[in-house]
Amino acid sequence: MPLHEYKGIVYPFFVSRENLEAMPNFRMRDDDIVIASYPKTGTNWILEMVSRVLQAAGRSEMTSEDRAFAKLEFHHPELPQTTHVLLEDSPSLRVILTHLGPDAAPPGIAHPQGNVKVIVIMRNPKDVAVSYYHFSLDIMRNYFYFGRIAAYFVTWDRFFNLFLSGEVVFGDFFDHVLSWWEKRHDPHFLFLKYEDVQRNPTDAVKTVMEFLEVDLDDVTIRRIAEESSFHNMKETLGDSHLKHRTVMARKGVVGDWKNYFTPEQSRAFDAKYREKLEGTGLEFEFEG
Ligand code: A3P
Repeated sequence: MPLHEYKGIVYPFFVSRENLEAMPNFRMRDDDIVIASYPKTGTNWILEMVSRVLQAAGRSEMTSEDRAFAKLEFHHPELPQTTHVLLEDSPSLRVILTHLGPDAAPPGIAHPQGNVKVIVIMRNPKDVAVSYYHFSLDIMRNYFYFGRIAAYFVTWDRFFNLFLSGEVVFGDFFDHVLSWWEKRHDPHFLFLKYEDVQRNPTDAVKTVMEFLEVDLDDVTIRRIAEESSFHNMKETLGDSHLKHRTVMARKGVVGDWKNYFTPEQSRAFDAKYREKLEGTGLEFEFEG
C-alpha cells in the first residue's frame, strides 16, 4: 500500500509501520540536534542554517547528501537502509530531522534530556497548504508515492479539503503544531517561524547560533544568512544530483496562498484556525 495509517495518522509507505514502531527505542545522544516540523514549513532552510553554523564553528561537516537524507523516520528509496538505522552508526554530532509529532517521535525528542536541542520550525498554514499541494503533485509525478490520495488531489480544491480536514500525510497541521507548542517553556526547545526567518534571516542565524551555544562573528553570521537564502539554495540544489528535489525550494515567499485560496476557502480556513488556535498563544502571520 502506498499509504497506511498508524495510530490515526496517515503516512506514506517510505515511513513504514516498522520504522514508526522502532521510534520508542531510538537512542538519542547527549549532543544530538533535532529539527522537528510539519512538512513544508521551511525544514530544509533551517537545516541549511544549522549545518552552516556548525560547519563555521568547526563542529560538524554535513554534505548536501547528509542534509537530503536526514529524516529520522524515512526510508529514502535511494538508500539501502532506513535513516534511523543509519543514524545509529553516524558519527556525532548528529543533526536529525523529523516530521513526527511528539506522540510518535522517540521519547528522547519529545522529552529531551541533557544537552539535546530541538528546533521546531512552524509556518502559516495557508502557505503550508499551498506548498504541500505542489510538493504532493511533484512527489506523485516522480514516484507515484501517494497512490490512493493521488486520485483526490489532482486539483487544488480537493487538496484544500483534505488539508483542512487533516487527511494528509503526517496528519492535521493544527494538531501537529499544537502538540509541539506545548513544549514552549522547556529550555531544550527553540521555536522559529518561517515568516520571522524570512523577515530577518540574519537574526534567525544568530538565534540558532546562540541556541546551539556557538560563537560566530557578525560577518560569518551575515554570510550564513546569505548562503542559506532561497536563491542560493535553489541554485545549489539545481546543480546537484538532488535536482529532482528542487521542489524543496519552490517559491520561498510569504503569502503565495492568495494565488490559490478562494474567498470561501479562506473563510473556512480562518474558522478552523480560530477554533484550533484561539487561547493557545500560538499565531501566524499571513502577509509577506
Ligand atoms: P514553497 O513551496 O512555499 O516555496 P520544507 O523544507 O519543510 O519541505 O519546506 C519547503 C518550503 O520552504 C518551500 O516553500 C520552499 O520553497 C521553502 N524554502 C526552502 N528553502 C528556502 C529558503 N532558503 N528561503 C525561503 N524559503 C525556502
